[in-house]
Amino acid sequence: MTPSSSTLHLADSDASLPFYAAQAEEIALFEQAWRNQLPLLIKGPTGCGKTRFVSYMASRLGLPLFTVACHDDLSAADLVGRHLIGDGTTYWQDGPLTRAVREGGICYLDEVTEARKDTTVVLHPLTDDRRILPIERTGETLQAPSDFMLVVSYNPGYQNLLKSMKPSTRQRFVSLRFGFPEPVREREIVIGETGIDIRLAERLVALAGALRTLKEHDLEEVASTRLLIYAARLIQSGFDPLEACRAALVEPLTDDEETAAALMEVVQVNFGY
Ligand SMILES: Nc1ncnc2c1ncn2[C@@H]1O[C@H](COP(=O)(O)OP(=O)(O)O)[C@@H](O)[C@H]1O
Ligand SMILES: [Mg+2]
Repeated sequence: MTPSSSTLHLADSDASLPFYAAQAEEIALFEQAWRNQLPLLIKGPTGCGKTRFVSYMASRLGLPLFTVACHDDLSAADLVGRHLIGDGTTYWQDGPLTRAVREGGICYLDEVTEARKDTTVVLHPLTDDRRILPIERTGETLQAPSDFMLVVSYNPGYQNLLKSMKPSTRQRFVSLRFGFPEPVREREIVIGETGIDIRLAERLVALAGALRTLKEHDLEEVASTRLLIYAARLIQSGFDPLEACRAALVEPLTDDEETAAALMEVVQVNFGY
């Protein structure tokens, strides 16, 4: 069945796949990128479904997934591998990137802009038509198999030049921009993930919409789908809705008490208090 534009692009009913509600044509784009051996970059705010999408695609394509959560101490050696000492000898241990290149599959670098700059050195030869991974420490050069794919993601919203991607690196990837899902789809996601009733899901999604328009409080981040799911879980397990929203949708977004109070007013209006 081809979904029309008015129907939801819900994940196939195949229970072995993770639940994923598509936003647009990203499934087809990912499949084509994989077929054509092109690396893929996904950008979008925190909690909008990037990681879920990648694990869904790995299952759908039947590929092993090597996920690396990047952080500011992550170096090229963490990706490629290093010599370790054990039982009086040294031995080489592949890092996740090397394993993905050797074994085939998807290597997913989540929040790639957090990683140390020396990691780009190992990514570049893998992201052009050579598709090779030179391992300096062992003298090996690995040729990536046809089912190897590099996927990276980051949040462009931080407005931090040091944490943005160098144009010369960015230009090596087919790129996909994610936003928060439209209300109907976000409601399906909240229901799909938690099983709460449709009225409550609608209310939470409307609240998220209202909170996301509050630009004047220069919040670094807005309420994510992930946080909506947290709120839904708390309410579902019997927590007072206002307190659930405070804990899941307000306090995680700001440390400033005045801003929190302003956000709570929006919560109260949306819950009819
Ligand atoms: N399109 C979607 N389909 C299904 N679940 C989703 C979707 N988008 C977000 N979610 C839910 O929101 C949570 C956060 O999404 P995640 O992929 O971890 O965000 P990101 O990697 O963009 O920070 C997921 O664990 C999942 O519960
Ligand atoms: Mg993620």
